[in-house]
Amino acid sequence: MHSVRDADLIDKTVIVWTDLDVPLENGQVVEKARLLSSSKTIKFLLEQKAKVILLGHLGRPEGRDPNFSLKPVVASLSQLVGKPIELLSEVQKPTSDLACLENIRFWPEEEAREENFAKQVALLGECYVNDCFATSHHAGATMLFLPKFLPPFIGIALEEEVHELASVMRNPKRPLVAILAGAKLETKLPAITNMSKIADKVLVAGKLMFEFKEKISNVIVASDDVDGADIGPVSIQSFQDEIAKAATVVWNGTMGKYEDERYLNGTKAIAQAVVASGCYSVVGGGDTAAALSKIGLLSKIAYVSMGGGAMLDFLAGKKLAGLEAIGYYD
Ligand code: 3PG
Repeated sequence: MHSVRDADLIDKTVIVWTDLDVPLENGQVVEKARLLSSSKTIKFLLEQKAKVILLGHLGRPEGRDPNFSLKPVVASLSQLVGKPIELLSEVQKPTSDLACLENIRFWPEEEAREENFAKQVALLGECYVNDCFATSHHAGATMLFLPKFLPPFIGIALEEEVHELASVMRNPKRPLVAILAGAKLETKLPAITNMSKIADKVLVAGKLMFEFKEKISNVIVASDDVDGADIGPVSIQSFQDEIAKAATVVWNGTMGKYEDERYLNGTKAIAQAVVASGCYSVVGGGDTAAALSKIGLLSKIAYVSMGGGAMLDFLAGKKLAGLEAIGYYD
């Protein structure tokens, strides 16, 4: 696997799969963290005098739904990179040096993983960069097959993501504490099981506390709750004790329904404990990042992963299809 930093890119047209899946309200981007992360590779490529065609998705549209157009996302990203971005509604060569294909999920071939669609897109460029961690576990046709048709590279943001998460899993400063919380046990169980083999302690909370029934020696499940919507004082205390001893914390999922002030307390107490412990902290998942931002502690976290499901799959030790396609596991 080669880094985009080592590629010879002058005058080349580079197709970049990037993270454009950001929350919108009234047609405006309301959270730019993913775009900021995406802008690093784009700026780098432009400095290298490459021509750039971006690919990405927004939400889960059913066909060409204008509510899922990348227009507002591209407008916001264009401000961050300081250059206009041409939005291509068809798979066609752009007329400018920086363009973005409309929501890749507007083409049903993408989710259907049709190799021919990727072949068609590949004709637009000379090399390919994957820079989108958050979708790498759910790769469509382009993310899977572009590396077959174009020389593939890993982008700056994606390289950082996998470096951070792989370091936590391979050689963390110990004790390593994994906090896995929130809802949807089926998506989190593999991460809990795998992290119980790697981490010194795994703390389980959120809705999972009612669903997780296994007994694993180093897994501590929250034992008391507030209205079934937050963890209670006994759990807070036992989690704080573990976090205070930690040298590294990796955290995905909130303690409770943080959107409701009444149930923010558990998440707040845990966030404060993570910051106070002085440990190296890696936090991911949209809700967890949003909760920490609400509490005002997001900037105190050492690394914020842009992945939700992708982070969980990585922590579960699963191979992510988008990473496999660029030779990450070779
Ligand atoms: C995300 O927002 O986490 C990714 O872009 C994946 O989105 P998906 O779950 O719709 O594939």
